[in-house]
Amino acid sequence: MERTLSIVKPDGVSKNLIGEVIKRFEENGLKVVGLKMISMDKKEAEGFYAVHRGKPFFESLTTFMSSGPSVVMVLEGEGAISKTRELMGATDPKQAKEGTLRCQFATNIERNVVHGSDGPETAAFEIGYFFNALEIFSP
Ligand code: CDP
Ligand code: MG
Repeated sequence: MERTLSIVKPDGVSKNLIGEVIKRFEENGLKVVGLKMISMDKKEAEGFYAVHRGKPFFESLTTFMSSGPSVVMVLEGEGAISKTRELMGATDPKQAKEGTLRCQFATNIERNVVHGSDGPETAAFEIGYFFNALEIFSP
């Protein structure tokens, strides 16, 4: 069973989309095995997105991600990483397939509602960034 880390970003939380995002994952066979609401400070957002340090969008992205509460979750299931990313849609909502969360709900390429890990190594790092072993409930 694969695990991935997803986040309902601050724009998603303020648009009342927490339930919508979780429902989409659950309906598609993913199991929520860890869940919490957090509020990242700037440093925590910078640490989470460290791979993007130096990119033109880094400053704005980390300011946005520390602008309010987020909901972080660990999802488990067969092919959880790619399934989550499929349900999210492309980073830029203009490129996102119809029916995906980002196509339906994102404001723009930055405020795109939801995060999902992009590979096994990133998933392991990102899950560990927010959750310890006692906060993950898997049979
Ligand atoms: O989230 P995803 O893996 O689809 O995209 P990314 O390339 O890993 O970028 C991380 C996040 O940075 C995106 O989800 C956007 O919120 C933001 N971003 C941005 O503001 N402008 C870009 N040109 C690319 C990404
Ligand atoms: Mg990414």
